[in-house]
Amino acid sequence: MKTIFSGIQPSGTITLGNYIGALKQFTELQENHNCYFCIVDQHAITVPQDRLQLRKNIRSLAALYLAVGIDPHKATLFIQSEVPAHAQAGWMLQCVAYIGELERMTQFKDKSAGREAVSAGLLTYPPLMAADILLYNTDLVPVGEDQKQHMELTRDLAERFNRKYNDIFTIPDVRIPKSGARIMSLQDPHKKMSKSDANQKAFIALLDEPKQIEKKIKSAVTDSEGVVVYDKENKPGVSNLLSIYSVLEGSSIQELEQRYEGKGYGDFKADLANVVIRHLEPIQKRYYELVNSEELDRILDEGAEKANQVAGKMLKKMENAMGLGRKRK
Ligand code: AQP
Repeated sequence: MKTIFSGIQPSGTITLGNYIGALKQFTELQENHNCYFCIVDQHAITVPQDRLQLRKNIRSLAALYLAVGIDPHKATLFIQSEVPAHAQAGWMLQCVAYIGELERMTQFKDKSAGREAVSAGLLTYPPLMAADILLYNTDLVPVGEDQKQHMELTRDLAERFNRKYNDIFTIPDVRIPKSGARIMSLQDPHKKMSKSDANQKAFIALLDEPKQIEKKIKSAVTDSEGVVVYDKENKPGVSNLLSIYSVLEGSSIQELEQRYEGKGYGDFKADLANVVIRHLEPIQKRYYELVNSEELDRILDEGAEKANQVAGKMLKKMENAMGLGRKRK
């Protein structure tokens, strides 16, 4: 069985973008893969976070993973900071990475743009992400398109380590979904939908209430043409809404274009809001059952125990390869 690793930052309530680009695929993949799903809280602190809110977000994200269908009997779900090998291996990989290649990362440039004080962690976050993945002998990493560049760096770091020290890492492949790999902001369809967007109207969070969802979709930026057609270049707003509709309902874009021929954006948006609300309803119900439960803590404790065992073994191999400490078996 191939091994899969993927992580999500608890930097806010996850959006339809995170769900369609990442989480939705996880539930299918767990059926025939050895899966590790991680709440990457150490990545979240690369930008300022409110302490109490972060704690809330971590628990909330764990409950959402389960609510969308991650089965703890099939997959290992855990919190990154509860497995110290991640930070330790991340440091070693920082020493393998070059500053130049980290400075070239688009996400670093985007997230640091216009900020006065940028944390060193924001720059060195990709080697920590590489550590997350490489510690588990990962074969495949399912992510949205925005993570492609970080994945290329992960492969480069693994190959460089294997060449320089010892051939211990599996070189992971990236798996990007065919549709919905990049869901865009509802307010600016040239920008990706992000959970930490300051404009709440830009994203649909998985826990948004029906009224909020209706309002957000109604106010989504489109164009003045009034024709429901997929054209990413000239009609990015409508195309984005069509992508969401198509993935959530399981209909093709072509089918949707035909259904809305001769109809305006009003009908299209109202129907899309219904599709989103119906899709999220069972997820939200299960979420509220889980979020304050002891069951959630038990699952996370078991997940951390298993992850610590597996990651600890690879960490020792890395230390031996680099000559750190004393030789251990
Ligand atoms: N808009 C998106 N469309 C498709 N996939 C997306 N992902 C993120 N945004 C979209 C995928 O979701 C997974 C988890 O991402 P993350 O939380 O680790 O970090 P991110 O990519 O930085 O996501 P956000 O929502 O933009 O978070 P913030 O605002 O905190 O930076 C990844 O697989 C990602 O590809």
